[in-house]
Amino acid sequence: MEIEINLAPPEELKEKPSDVLKVPFGTVFTDHMFSMQYSASKWHDAMIHQFAPLSLSPAALCLHYGQGIFEGMKAYKHEERVLLFRPEKNFERLNRSANRMVMPHVDVDIALEALKKLLLIENSWVPDVAGSSLYIRPTMIGTQAKLGVKPADEYLFYIILSPVGPYFREGFSPVNIYLSTEYVRAVRGGVGVAKTIGNYAAGLFAGTKAAEVGCSQVLWLDALERKYLEEVGTMNIFVKFDDELATPPLSGTILAGITRDSVLTLAKDMGVKVMERQISVDEVIEGIASGKVVEMFGCGTAAIIAPVGSLWFNDRPYTVSDGKTGKLTQELFDELTGIQSGIREDRYGWIVEVD
Ligand code: PLP
Ligand code: COI
Repeated sequence: MEIEINLAPPEELKEKPSDVLKVPFGTVFTDHMFSMQYSASKWHDAMIHQFAPLSLSPAALCLHYGQGIFEGMKAYKHEERVLLFRPEKNFERLNRSANRMVMPHVDVDIALEALKKLLLIENSWVPDVAGSSLYIRPTMIGTQAKLGVKPADEYLFYIILSPVGPYFREGFSPVNIYLSTEYVRAVRGGVGVAKTIGNYAAGLFAGTKAAEVGCSQVLWLDALERKYLEEVGTMNIFVKFDDELATPPLSGTILAGITRDSVLTLAKDMGVKVMERQISVDEVIEGIASGKVVEMFGCGTAAIIAPVGSLWFNDRPYTVSDGKTGKLTQELFDELTGIQSGIREDRYGWIVEVD
């Protein structure tokens, strides 16, 4: 597909943040974006152009009935090379989300080519200080103007870029997590498995409860029995019981995290016993009390690997790992970020260079 390129006038290029590590996550955007339109059953008008507000009918279907999906990925700079981490996995997942929300697929090769072209143009926006990256947000929305509830006939796909440091204010320090017993995120057969916009809106209210007790995110339990761990607001969850590293299975209610998959691979290769299995909240709370739970962390693209320092459950906090970063959590963080940023050997062929 031909991608038209319309660069921003030089006098309108933005100033870059002087210290990207201090910029609140996802608040600064680069000069250009990619977009393409879908109508009459095909994608067209692929274009790289100046970052600008969208023009959208107030009746656009995405605004009323939630046909919106997105992805989150990152570009890293190492010695002038711009590196992507398993980017095809994100576009494949975007297409799985599209299936669930009755939206069109994007061709993975075309999306990747568009992203690479955009990154070549925005090369100077990819930060190179340790702990920073250029966050990439591919998004698709139903744009057709219609108030009847139905899948849209017209869509917009776009990619925007944002230079970022740590996702949490705490940086790579233990975060406090709130175990929600009252509210749930997703039910089996619902849309929890899709990276769709409404899932995040659905989590906001419990998020306010979490914030009231000083927690950064909500840890969700299964909706049926309210017994088993699911995932955190923007991360998958791992618990280390003695020598076993466990994470909830992909049962259809949680996002199949690409970081989760990478952590499972890395931990296995480090010789750790890894299990994808149901983890009950009782097992965790009892394990914290008995010392069997030795580490706990969340992982995701934006958050990378976030150690859990304490878990808020039934009106009180439970401290994990003495509120410190566990040994395995640290090793996994170092290995993952080392591979992502090009410092450590890419033994799995995960890195795609932008050239
Ligand atoms: N779970 C949710 C709800 C998320 O939003 C994310 C972030 O993308 C993840 C898990 C982790 O997924 P990934 O590692 O692919 O970023
Ligand atoms: C990501 O980790 O990329 C996510 O999509 C989480 C996000 C909602 C900030």
